[in-house]
Amino acid sequence: MAEKGPFCGINEPADPANLTEAEKKHIPVIECPDTVKAGEPFQVTIKVGEIPHVMEEGHHIQWLELYSGQNYNARVDLTPVFTRAEATVVLVKGGVHHDITLRAIERCNLHGMWEGTRKIAIEE
Ligand SMILES: [Fe+2]
Repeated sequence: MAEKGPFCGINEPADPANLTEAEKKHIPVIECPDTVKAGEPFQVTIKVGEIPHVMEEGHHIQWLELYSGQNYNARVDLTPVFTRAEATVVLVKGGVHHDITLRAIERCNLHGMWEGTRKIAIEE
């Protein structure tokens, strides 16, 4: 059977508890408060990745997207050389859900899409 290619779906680490260097360069890291107040804006910074990914003409991160669970929140398109593989967006969450999982997805032009997640709590 043929091996799965990097552009088939979202790539996942072989062993989440023991990431390879390539996985550390691609899985987005989400920086934000652990707990936020409903209705109050807060910053979410997405970095690719734990080891910064290169932004060279031939190899770079093309875009980042941020979701709350399955709900799309934001997208940032990046260009090589002149940007870093990171972005900060401001979110506001309602009080319907008491916790949500933020999901950041990025696409590398050579290594495909990768996802990072982070759970946050929402207080009334
Ligand atoms: Fe890459």
